[in-house]
Amino acid sequence: MEVGAQASDGLYFVGTKEELIAAKRTVLTLDGRDVLIIHHQGEFYAIDCYCYHAGTSLQNGDIEDIDSQRCITCPKHKYKISLPAGEGLYRGRDRSQDPPPLRWFSKGVKQRVHQLTERQGALFLRLSAGGWVESDYYQGEKGRVERERAASQDSGGKDDSTE
Ligand code: FES
Repeated sequence: MEVGAQASDGLYFVGTKEELIAAKRTVLTLDGRDVLIIHHQGEFYAIDCYCYHAGTSLQNGDIEDIDSQRCITCPKHKYKISLPAGEGLYRGRDRSQDPPPLRWFSKGVKQRVHQLTERQGALFLRLSAGGWVESDYYQGEKGRVERERAASQDSGGKDDSTE
């Protein structure tokens, strides 16, 4: 089966486990969407390739653990994104305590993540769909149109995408 081909159940073949481990980071275009597949310390992750903040490729982002969550740091403005869930993380003061200590907070899911399944040494990916995720904006015209729609449904169309 060719890389990028769809199996009968709709999953995309993205490579053998061996190939993806050797490559460490692989970018594939699946149904017009650029997806970054990462192998890091024994785990695979698949996320939208372009950072939700301003569209920089995450391919060369550093990976670290923050509060036991594996995260990638965008090379451009250093935003932290959890790899398993796509949450945007930021460090701030915890005002529930006095004095307020610095800790990590979540902004919620900002980067779309995709599901990987292994079958007999081969990896298959299911593209996540549904709802609006900020990283959709950098995945072509459809994502931009969807953002306009999501913004018009917001209270007053407020855009907080730079948070
Ligand atoms: S483009 Fe990624 S943090 Fe700004």
